[in-house]
Amino acid sequence: MGIIHINKLKPGMVLDEEVRDINGRLLLKKNKQIQAAHIRIFKIWGITEVEIHGNNGSKEVSASSVDPQQVEKIKESTLNLFRHVDLDHPAIKEIFRISIVFRSTYDLSNHENNNEGLAEIDSQQSKVENNILQKLNQESITLPEIPSIVFELNEVIANPLSSAEDIAQVVHRSPSLTALLLKIVNSPFYGFPSKIDKISLAVTLIGTREISGLALGISILSMFNNIPKEILSMYSFLRHSLACGIISRILAAHKSIPQTEQLFVSGLLHDLGRLILYSYFPEESRNILSRARLSDRLLYHQENDCLGCNHTHLVKQLLQEWKLPMVLENNVFYHHCPSEAQQPIPATLVHLADVITNSLGIGTSGERYVPPLDNIAWESLGLSPTCFDVVIKQATHQFFALESMLDV
Ligand SMILES: [Fe+2]
Ligand SMILES: [Fe+2]
Repeated sequence: MGIIHINKLKPGMVLDEEVRDINGRLLLKKNKQIQAAHIRIFKIWGITEVEIHGNNGSKEVSASSVDPQQVEKIKESTLNLFRHVDLDHPAIKEIFRISIVFRSTYDLSNHENNNEGLAEIDSQQSKVENNILQKLNQESITLPEIPSIVFELNEVIANPLSSAEDIAQVVHRSPSLTALLLKIVNSPFYGFPSKIDKISLAVTLIGTREISGLALGISILSMFNNIPKEILSMYSFLRHSLACGIISRILAAHKSIPQTEQLFVSGLLHDLGRLILYSYFPEESRNILSRARLSDRLLYHQENDCLGCNHTHLVKQLLQEWKLPMVLENNVFYHHCPSEAQQPIPATLVHLADVITNSLGIGTSGERYVPPLDNIAWESLGLSPTCFDVVIKQATHQFFALESMLDV
C-alpha cells in the first residue's frame, strides 16, 4: 500500500483508505476499484492524493538510501533543534523520528534563512524596549487598515444571494490577487484536468469559503513587504506560514473538523504578529533576534523578556480591529498556549502544526528551535502520534505542489 498522487492514479487501482473531500464528505469507500469517473470526481473536489493497495510508486519519506554518516550528522543537528522540548514525550519522539527522515530526504538548506546577518550585532549595547504594547494601544503606531478587497470579499460572501460571478468581480479588482488565485487553482495542489482561466469557475469548483480564505491570507501577508532582509527573509517566512497552514488543515481533516479552510487561514496567519514586530519595530527586532541567538533561547521567550509581551499579543489588536472571525483570533492568539484558549481544539491543531513545521525546518518566522508542546492541550486533543507519518507525507505533497505560488 502507499500514497499516490492523483495525476498518477489509474483506473483499476484499488483504494486502501476511503477518500473524503476537504469537508469530510465520503467520495469513495475503502477497497473499491477506481474508475475513470472517480478520478475526475477526486480532481473536481481537490483531492491531491489517495492511498491505494500495493503502491510503492510515490516518493516515500525514507532515510534508507542516505549515507549513514550523513544521517548521524542530521540526527545531531536535529537534537539541537529539539533542545527546548521533552524528547521522551510520545508525540515529540515521533515528530523527532520523522524530522530526521524528512531532513535526510529533502535538502532545504538553499531555501531557509536564519537571520545570519544579525550575528555581529552587539546585543549588550542594545536597549531593551518594554512598552511596545503601550505604543500600539496609544496609537502612536498606526496599524495597517484591513485591505479593502478582503473587506469587500467578506461582505459579498456573507450575502447568501451572491453568485460566483459576484465574488469574481471583487477578486478582479486586484490583478495580482487574480493572477495568484489562478496560479494556485491551476497548480498540482488541486490537479484539475483542464486549465482554469476564470475566477468565477475557480469559485464554483473550489468553493466560496476556500477562495475567500486563500484571498484573505494572501492579501494580509502581502501587506508586509518592507521587512529588512537581514532581519527576515519574507520568502522563508511565507514557506513557514504556508506549511503551517497546510498541516493545520490536514490535522483538522484527521480530527473530522468540517471547516478546514479556517484552520488553513489560521495556520497561514499564526505568526502575523512577528511581521508587525519586524515591520514597525526593526531596531527592537534586531535586538531580540540577536539576544535569542546568543543565548540559544526560544524566540518568543526572548520577546517576552525584551518587550513584556510576545508576537501573539501584537497581532490580537489588529485582528480585532479588522473584525476577522473570532475563531481566527482564538487560533492565532493562543498558538503557543492552546490549553488556555476559549476554543482549545482548533488552537491546538495550529499549535501542533507549528511544532511540526519548525521540526521539519520548512522556512522560519525567526525561531530557530522547535517550540515546546502544550501537554494539556495535546492530551485533550485525543490524537495518536501514529497519524503524524501520513499527515506529514500528505503535507509534503501539498506543500511542494503549492510552493510555486510563493515566487510571485
Ligand atoms: Fe509563533
Ligand atoms: Fe510559527
